[in-house]
Amino acid sequence: MKPINLIILAAGNSTRLKSRVNKVMHPIAGRPMIDYVLTAARALRPRKIALVVGYGREALQEHLRGQRDLVFAVQKTRLGTAHAARIGLEALKISGGEVIILNGDVPLLDSRTLKKLIKVEPSNPLALLTAVLPNPTGYGRILRDAVGVLRGIVEEKNADAAQREINEINAGVYRAQVGFLKGALRKIKKDSVKGEYYLTEIVSRAVQEGFFPESLTVQDPHEILGANTRAELAFLNQMVASALNARHLEEGVGMQDPDTVFIDYGVKIGADSFLASGVQLMGKTRLGKGVTLEAGCILKNCQVADGVTLKAYSYLESCRLSTGAVVGPFARIRPGSQVGEGAQVGNFVELKKTKLGRESKANHLSYLGDSVIGKKVNIGAGTITCNYDGKKKFVTKIADGAFIGSDTQLVAPVKVGKGAYVGAGTTVTRNVPPGALATSRVEQKNLKKGKA
Ligand code: UD1
Ligand code: CA
Repeated sequence: MKPINLIILAAGNSTRLKSRVNKVMHPIAGRPMIDYVLTAARALRPRKIALVVGYGREALQEHLRGQRDLVFAVQKTRLGTAHAARIGLEALKISGGEVIILNGDVPLLDSRTLKKLIKVEPSNPLALLTAVLPNPTGYGRILRDAVGVLRGIVEEKNADAAQREINEINAGVYRAQVGFLKGALRKIKKDSVKGEYYLTEIVSRAVQEGFFPESLTVQDPHEILGANTRAELAFLNQMVASALNARHLEEGVGMQDPDTVFIDYGVKIGADSFLASGVQLMGKTRLGKGVTLEAGCILKNCQVADGVTLKAYSYLESCRLSTGAVVGPFARIRPGSQVGEGAQVGNFVELKKTKLGRESKANHLSYLGDSVIGKKVNIGAGTITCNYDGKKKFVTKIADGAFIGSDTQLVAPVKVGKGAYVGAGTTVTRNVPPGALATSRVEQKNLKKGKA
C-alpha cells in the first residue's frame, strides 16, 4: 500500500450540540471523539494527517499536542466542508497521490472499512462511503440514476420530499486523487440555502468532468453514525459502553446488569471481578482479579489490587487500594489516598491524601485528611483530623498499633506514637508518646436534678 495522507474535518461550530466545546472533544466512554477517529486513521499508517480546526481549537490542539503525524490547518471562518477540505489539503503540501477525507464527528468508523475504500476501483479519482439507514434524517442523500450509477449528493436541507425518502446516505468519507481534488474544490460553488461550500458537491463535479465516482456501502451502518446532536452523542455512548461491556464479560468480568454499568475506554479489569448494577469506572482505573464492586460504586483513576471489596455507593478518586482491602458502604476516598492490605474503611468515612496502613480500620463516620496512619491502627467512630487552620494544611501521623477512641479530634500537625491510646472524646493538640494514654476529657459531674 502506498503511503496515504488524510484530512480530518473538525472545525465546525458544534451548533446542534449547543456547546462551547468543539464537538470532537466531547467524550464517548470517557475518550474524546477525535481519538477514536485518529485511531482508525492511523491504522492506515498515513504519511500525514491534516486536522482542520477552528471552533474551540485551543483545547483540541492542547489535547493533541506533540503528535508528530498531525498538521493543524486552521479554518478561520466556517465556510463549509469543501472549504475546510481545501484548507486541509493545502496544509498537507502534496501535489500527487491520494487522500482520505473524514469527518471528525464520526467516531465509530472502522479502519477495515477505510482499507476497503482504498482498494475499491483504485484507478477511479473519487470513491466514497455510503450507508443504508432506516432513518436517514440529517444526512446527505445519495442520488443514483436508473441504473444505479452515483450522480450526486443532496443535503437534507436542499432535498425535496422524494429525495428525503432515500435511505442511502453519504457517510462523509471520501478517497480522492489529489490532482482531481484540488481542481474540484476550487470549482465548488457556494450553496444558496446554507451559504456554505459543500464537499458533497465533489460528486457532481466528478460527473461534470466525465467520470462516475465509485461508492462502497458499509455493512454495519452503526459505523458511520455522526454525533451532531446530544441525542446522537448519548446513543453513541450507549453503543460504545455496551461494546466495551461485552468485551469485559468475555474476559471473565461478571456483571449484575450490564445495561447499568459504564466503563470508560481505557479501564482494565481482572478476571473474576464482579460489578453490581450502577457501577461506573472512569479514566485510567485498573482493577485486579477478584474485585467485588457492590451497587453504585464510582471510581475515577483508581488502582485497585486483587480481592478488594467495595461495598455499595462508595465514591473513589485517584487512590490506591491494596489486596483484600474492604471499603464502604458510603465511603469517600479522595485523591492521593492509599488503603493498605486488608485495611477497612467503613460507612461515612472520608479519606483525603491519607495513607491507611495494613490491617488498620476506620469503620465509622470519620474524616482523615493529610494523614499517615500505620499498621493495625484502630480509628474510632467520629474521629476527625483537623488538618486545616484556614490557611495551610498540616499532617497527622499515627504510628502502628495505636488506638484512637471515638470522637477524637487530632489537631495537626500532631503525632500519635506507636501503641498509644487516645481516650474517647479527646482533643489531641500535642504529640502523644509511644505507649501513652492521652485524654483531655472534662471530669464528669453527676448532679442532683434541679441543682446547678
Ligand atoms: C456532512 C455531509 C453529509 C453527510 C454527513 C455524514 C456536507 C455538506 N455534508 O453533514 O452529506 O451525510 O456529513 O456525517 O459535507 N466542518 C469544518 N468546517 C466547516 C464545516 C464543517 O471543519 O466549515 C467539519 C465539522 O467539524 C464536522 C465535519 O466537517 O466534523 C462535518 O460537518 P457537519 O456540519 O457535521 O456536517 P453534517 O451536517 O453532518
Ligand atoms: Ca456531522
